[in-house]
Amino acid sequence: MSAPKQPILPIKGKRNILITSALPYVNNVPHLGNIIGCVLSADVFARFCRLRDYNTLFICGTDEYGTATETKAIAEGLEPKQICDKYHAIHKEVYDWFNISFDYFGRTSTEKQTEVTQEIFWACHKNGFITQKDEEQWYCESCDSFLADRFVEGTCPDCGYTDARGDQCDECGHPLHAHQLKDPRCKYRKDCGKTPQLRTSTHLYLCLDKLQPEMQAYFAQAVEKGVWSANAQDITQSWFDRGLEPRAITRDLKWGTPVPLEGFTDKVFYVWFDATIGYISITANYTDEWQQWWRNPDDVQLYQFMAKDNVLFHSIIFPSSLIGTRETWTKVNHLSATEYLNYEDRQFSKSRGVGVFGNNAQESGIPADVYRFYLLYIRPETADTHFDWADLIAKHNNELLNNLGNFVHRALTFSAKFFDSKMTQVVLTDEDKESIAAINEEVGQQAKALRDLRVANASEEDCAPAETKLAELKEQLASLKLKIEEEEKAEGDN
Ligand code: MF3
Ligand code: ZN
Repeated sequence: MSAPKQPILPIKGKRNILITSALPYVNNVPHLGNIIGCVLSADVFARFCRLRDYNTLFICGTDEYGTATETKAIAEGLEPKQICDKYHAIHKEVYDWFNISFDYFGRTSTEKQTEVTQEIFWACHKNGFITQKDEEQWYCESCDSFLADRFVEGTCPDCGYTDARGDQCDECGHPLHAHQLKDPRCKYRKDCGKTPQLRTSTHLYLCLDKLQPEMQAYFAQAVEKGVWSANAQDITQSWFDRGLEPRAITRDLKWGTPVPLEGFTDKVFYVWFDATIGYISITANYTDEWQQWWRNPDDVQLYQFMAKDNVLFHSIIFPSSLIGTRETWTKVNHLSATEYLNYEDRQFSKSRGVGVFGNNAQESGIPADVYRFYLLYIRPETADTHFDWADLIAKHNNELLNNLGNFVHRALTFSAKFFDSKMTQVVLTDEDKESIAAINEEVGQQAKALRDLRVANASEEDCAPAETKLAELKEQLASLKLKIEEEEKAEGDN
């Protein structure tokens, strides 16, 4: 396969496939759960599409704005921009190591992001889909900052626990609104601890309620025509069933896409409003012709890969903001969401140091392909699964090494030894033809699994018959080899 002409653009009359994997938060080193949840699943699909000669563009990038980046910056004594530069490079290196075949890996904190986000915002505003609402929020004068929920601690109004967080009380488990906390303390900087004041802040909201009927119609046809994992359909439907409500799209933060509307220019867009727009701006940083991909629903099929906690933003909020513009956009046609991957019997956790992170994987001495194989094998496609070292070793030894590795190795050494590694014209017997037909049948099944986005199935269950076939082939090869050796020996004896 020759490398496609750059930049890759849709071609009229061809299958044009645009693939995205959820944009990883920049402020952490990704772990194996993140890798299988989005980038690796999308990578397998992208490779499949290219092998099929579909015109494919696979993009991704780091999700860089928001509170989490500001927090990390404070913790490391750097500016948010410096945190993003540092961690973007780390992410890139990890995905390169895992051989993720992005056509372009960008980032969200760019000028294009501001341009595209503001353009979409203005169009929604013009069409009456933006409204305003006052919110009571804690403000720390000493830190000169409104405090996101996680930056306030205080006494739980329900149980009196004195170290309740702004979003939840860890003692009684009740979810909280930060403004309900008694005796609040600022946690913005580690050593602040000052008492914040309640202030009113006016925020902008996207009127999802007004967009619900159109959204439901769009969703119904997308699911009918496209491939959506069951969890993606269920999660989306349950939001419709509860009824969509206006959703805040601004935050009192500094590190984000600036809000252009008079009276709101000291705010930024809420990261969850503009993060998905990142797919568009990242493509715009790849090519000036980005509109050929993103404003072309007739000629482009959009496939989006993510973990299930991301579904709402991709199946409802992103398409709603595009529909709200009343302009033509490419919207998600196929959505594949994974369940969660646990580590042994626990959840991956950076703070508790549980799991394998990108850098650990590289340092482990185990080749990337072994991780890729095992992660795909246990991809949490329909239920949570867990990464298990003993299982990795067993799968590696039995499946990858014994079945596939041995087969390939024997076939190659056999061809080297007896045919000088050259492919020669073969007269196929009926038996050969049967074998080839059976193999083609299996290949067809796997291609179908991949088209249906059953990525793990394609590497596992559907291979079961193929594995039997492989074992048979190995036997045939072995006996053929014996036969030839005997013949050679007989010739030698003569
Ligand atoms: N950064 C988010 C996460 O890791 C995913 C954002 S996907 C986007 O969960 F499209 F919204 F950017
Ligand atoms: Zn403070």
